[in-house]
Amino acid sequence: MNLDKDFWNNRYAGNQIGWDLGAPSTPLKEFVDTLEDKSIRILIPGCGNAYEAEYLHQQGFENVFVIDIAPLALEGFKKRVPEFPADHLILGDFFEHEAEYDLILEQTFFCALDPKLRSDYAKKMHDLLAPNGKLAGVMFCFELTEQGPPFGGSATEYEGYFGELFEIKSMQPCLNSIKPRLGNELWVELLKN
Ligand SMILES: C[S@@+](CC[C@H](N)C(=O)[O-])C[C@H]1O[C@@H](n2cnc3c(N)ncnc32)[C@H](O)[C@@H]1O
Repeated sequence: MNLDKDFWNNRYAGNQIGWDLGAPSTPLKEFVDTLEDKSIRILIPGCGNAYEAEYLHQQGFENVFVIDIAPLALEGFKKRVPEFPADHLILGDFFEHEAEYDLILEQTFFCALDPKLRSDYAKKMHDLLAPNGKLAGVMFCFELTEQGPPFGGSATEYEGYFGELFEIKSMQPCLNSIKPRLGNELWVELLKN
């Protein structure tokens, strides 16, 4: 399966977006509520309908950027949240994006990628973060099979990709997952080395 731009755009075109929560996920929302500095540069990659970006914007965070490879995802977001700065919506491939952020939020993006890209994901996250920058969010912890997306994995596997590049502050079972995902998610906080 080719998980390219057309694959994802067609999912939005056909409204086959089973991952979409219609609201910011509880773990991300509660994490955002702990952030004090509203000027930090935040990226949400593979943002989809980007409810977390909408929430950040409502809370007064000024430097929130989203990137997605599917034009329809960003078009939908733009229509739903017209007040979000248009120049903070980036249409493109995460792996080709170049900028610097203090915080990157992960929410069903890692699991949507071909598992072969996992080390590249870890390296790209490291490159995109400023010194002391943080990658935070949720990652699935269920068996990795050929079937996906979403593709599963385990903390042990993930430590292999991130361990040398990041200080692993948290990679623990997520206690405030939404009900259908409870027991299947890790809460992850990785500090750039
Ligand atoms: C499973 S969806 C999750 C969307 C959103 N994070 C959510 O939780 O609702 C994965 C998203 O990643 C996007 N995506 C996949 N590969 C990408 C890439 N290389 N660069 C940027 N976005 C990508 C897809 O278009 C899709 O919107």
